[in-house]
Amino acid sequence: MNAPVPSSLESLYQCSDQELDQRIQAAKDRLGDSVVILCHHYQREEVYKFADLTGDSLKLSRLAAERSQAKTIVFCGVHFMAEVADILSGPEQVTILPDLAAGCSMADMADLPQVEAAWKELGRIIPVDTQVTPITYVNSTAELKAFCGSHQGTVCTSSNAGKILQWAFAQRPKVLFFPDQHLGRNSAKRMGIPLDEIVLYQPELPMGGLTEQDIHRARVILWNGYCSVHQMFQPAHVTLFRQRIPDIRIVVHPECSMEVCDLADDLGSTEQIQQIVQNAPPGSRFAIGTELNLVNRLKHQLTDREIHFLCPTICMCSTMFRIDTQHLCWTLENLLQGHIVNRITVPQREAHLAKIALERMLQVR
Ligand code: 13P
Ligand code: SF4
Repeated sequence: MNAPVPSSLESLYQCSDQELDQRIQAAKDRLGDSVVILCHHYQREEVYKFADLTGDSLKLSRLAAERSQAKTIVFCGVHFMAEVADILSGPEQVTILPDLAAGCSMADMADLPQVEAAWKELGRIIPVDTQVTPITYVNSTAELKAFCGSHQGTVCTSSNAGKILQWAFAQRPKVLFFPDQHLGRNSAKRMGIPLDEIVLYQPELPMGGLTEQDIHRARVILWNGYCSVHQMFQPAHVTLFRQRIPDIRIVVHPECSMEVCDLADDLGSTEQIQQIVQNAPPGSRFAIGTELNLVNRLKHQLTDREIHFLCPTICMCSTMFRIDTQHLCWTLENLLQGHIVNRITVPQREAHLAKIALERMLQVR
């Protein structure tokens, strides 16, 4: 089959699912090893089935850094993930996000001017440079990773947050953790930090809504950010499942609130959740508190386990969902013709500093 002339994105919405699948597969076959398709576990099934490699944020960061033979990384995830791939991949490699509108609402909850203002404000109360390690959750812009890189800080993901906090406390007595308050609180609490030493900084309020005393007492200063998908899971959902199915195992993502996480049997990143369910004996029953596409996939793959979605309503990452087969097809067919569409390029200085922060993270095992 000849390589089709890349259609306009709009026209691909007229194609049947079958035609799109055939065209994506044909483009993928022709592009061969020059392209690697990375997919996050929340990706919709129609796209996920074309992944060369899948994973959680940490695994995908490592994979992006290792796939030096691929000229192009097509990242089916959200914007911050593609930025990390661009930062960690080689200078000759190109990273593409098939739909540039695939962002992360949590990552949008902290920007550089706000974090710099907070740093300055805290600096009026305590010597931040010697007392505070900034940690950004990977769900953040590259410029916040660069901020951490230039302030002796680092990055964490949902699978290594506890270890990264330990690393941070070996450097300095306090941590400023952004943007996800829940991952920060759940991880700090699990390492034994009392709740009165964990405070919440609200960027819209003077001094984050904290007193001088709060700031002196705090070991962990959390940013007031959250994931709109994971905030849907409630303690009552856990209680209801326990009443209905006494031997149910509740597994949730640490972006869920502390009240939900405290009631769960296990917490884990998307990769860890997948492993927990895969490694359980047939017949095991689970209620899972994370994005719907991953839970549905596990349900379809592991039919000898009983798998429930923890929330009675649909909790989907609507931005991740923007990456569809039309965008994937359009991206690949353009590549076949030598056109790069939707490239993610982190400016050089920012990428350099962000890489320092990311490499500090990758060294912590
Ligand atoms: P993972 O690192 O667990 O894949 O999580 C990323 C994410 O955005 C969860 O909402
Ligand atoms: Fe961001 Fe939440 Fe989507 Fe994860 S699920 S990418 S934190 S909006």
